[in-house]
Amino acid sequence: MGLVRTIIDRDQGYAESALPQGLRELYDGDLHFPATPAQRPFVIANFVSTLDGVVSYKIKGHAGGATISGFDPADRFIMGLLRASADAVMVGARTVHDVSPKGLWIPEYTYPDAKHLYTEYRVKVLHKPEFPLVVIVSGSGRLELERAIFRTPGVHTVVITTSAGRDELARAGATKLPSVQIKAVDATGGSIAPLVVLPLLYLQFGVRMLLHEGGPTLFGQFLAADAVDELFMTLSPQIAGRKADAIRPALVQGVEFVPDCAPWFQLLSVKQKAEHLYLRYRRTESRPSGA
Ligand SMILES: NC(=O)c1ccc[n+]([C@@H]2O[C@H](COP(=O)([O-])OP(=O)(O)OC[C@H]3O[C@@H](n4cnc5c(N)ncnc54)[C@H](OP(=O)(O)O)[C@@H]3O)[C@@H](O)[C@H]2O)c1
Repeated sequence: MGLVRTIIDRDQGYAESALPQGLRELYDGDLHFPATPAQRPFVIANFVSTLDGVVSYKIKGHAGGATISGFDPADRFIMGLLRASADAVMVGARTVHDVSPKGLWIPEYTYPDAKHLYTEYRVKVLHKPEFPLVVIVSGSGRLELERAIFRTPGVHTVVITTSAGRDELARAGATKLPSVQIKAVDATGGSIAPLVVLPLLYLQFGVRMLLHEGGPTLFGQFLAADAVDELFMTLSPQIAGRKADAIRPALVQGVEFVPDCAPWFQLLSVKQKAEHLYLRYRRTESRPSGA
């Protein structure tokens, strides 16, 4: 039985299915991705948002996406499915800090019931290692190294940082952690450009499909660099509200577009379960007709 019901699917007509049957049933359909662009990974992003666009309550213990979705099983299943599809999952440092210290960016962490289906898909169909590479972007290098993400056998983590961040991580003992790699890159004013991150992951780590899991600050920079190909967005039927001096982030923070160059998207699929909607968009150069 499906975890979601497909209402619209405009990505059809493939000769062969991509997902194994068990995942196709839970997702109520298939999931294909286009070929990788030249010299960089294909970038998909995944967020859950309230109806008013808030992605985090920014309250200790309730800052993560699970509070936004109301611990919605279908949202968590789709998150796991996208992780299972990706070579690497990338997050910004504040997203790492705002979730549980046990947090892991691997498929079954969000939806353990599909663990075997995710593994079968990754290993037997996609011929990828059991877990995706975890990529953390941190200019400062100030990361809590006691977290499970740095200490779980089989989970490989790369921290993309500045030279100052590399020194900070070395002082904190990160170079002694066997599953952690540190990559210091050029960063003007402490900010690492998405167009530096992507070729690094492509060339040095063989990443062809990158899942961007936020947060809104890192996501905004990738959008501004035209480095997001698809957006999977769960719309959760609650309203969080924001004060004028908002600390609750919306989908994008720290970047704003003018109408002439705001990114537009084409709707690829709509799925539904009870009051939640699961939307898939692909970046498009042209505005929809009538816009
Ligand atoms: N609802 C959802 O789907 C969802 C998804 C993801 C996250 N979230 C929530 O969003 C919140 C975090 O989002 P956020 O926007 O505050 O932070 P974020 O994007 O996760 O992380 C920002 C941090 O990442 C590093 N960073 C980002 N861009 C960088 C660049 N270009 N160069 C160098 N370092 C860079 C910096 O780390 P340093 O400070 O170490 O330099 C920066 O402080 C959390 O509460 C999280 O739970 C929600």
